[in-house]
Amino acid sequence: MTAKGKFITFEGTEGVGKSTQLENAANQLRSLGLQVTVTREPGGTPMAESIRELLLAPREEPVNDLTELLLMFAARAQHLHSKILPELEQGRWVLCDRFTDATFAYQGGGRGVPFQSIATLETLVQGDVRPDHVVLLDAPVETGMARAKHRGDLDRFEQEAVAFFERIRQTYLERAAIAPERYHVVDAARELGEVSRDIAALFQELARG
Ligand code: TMP
Repeated sequence: MTAKGKFITFEGTEGVGKSTQLENAANQLRSLGLQVTVTREPGGTPMAESIRELLLAPREEPVNDLTELLLMFAARAQHLHSKILPELEQGRWVLCDRFTDATFAYQGGGRGVPFQSIATLETLVQGDVRPDHVVLLDAPVETGMARAKHRGDLDRFEQEAVAFFERIRQTYLERAAIAPERYHVVDAARELGEVSRDIAALFQELARG
């Protein structure tokens, strides 16, 4: 029987460098001989990627908070059950760019949806599945937003005001503080090399088991 792989997610506000750090971590684990799957939310399967397009497209029609929440979990149900769990069962490590912490932070902290409603959907969709580890890249909102703006057209979330992202950052930090053994908060406002070194040290430790 193959041992189950580890499920590790990367979180943070816009422009903190999640995707770069996730790719580095994946390459590091591969160089240690581990099988790694890199994926993202919302998205990760063809259907969930279609839901992502619906969620991210700027639109005239105001999007109801519950519509947004349910679409996040619809995409997650598809991704989790058809991709993440089967890959973990095969012994692969799954590194995911965002997961349910983003829902607590964005839809909960950001939009004001009650955390209890999110927790109810979390149990419905995931049962007791939670990431083994969460890497939270933390940086002042302005720093990240400036980086995100450089990337070109802003999606529906990136068009939100600074106060929205301040609430998101706060929610992430509060969740991390409650379970420090699972959440690894990395100061992402520093120079890229320093951030990368810290994350490499963390993954070296995680790979050791
Ligand atoms: P990304 O830009 O990091 O790929 O994420 C897409 C956007 O979706 C980002 O602005 C955060 C948002 N999001 C939520 O609001 N809730 C969620 O549960 C997830 C996974 C992402």
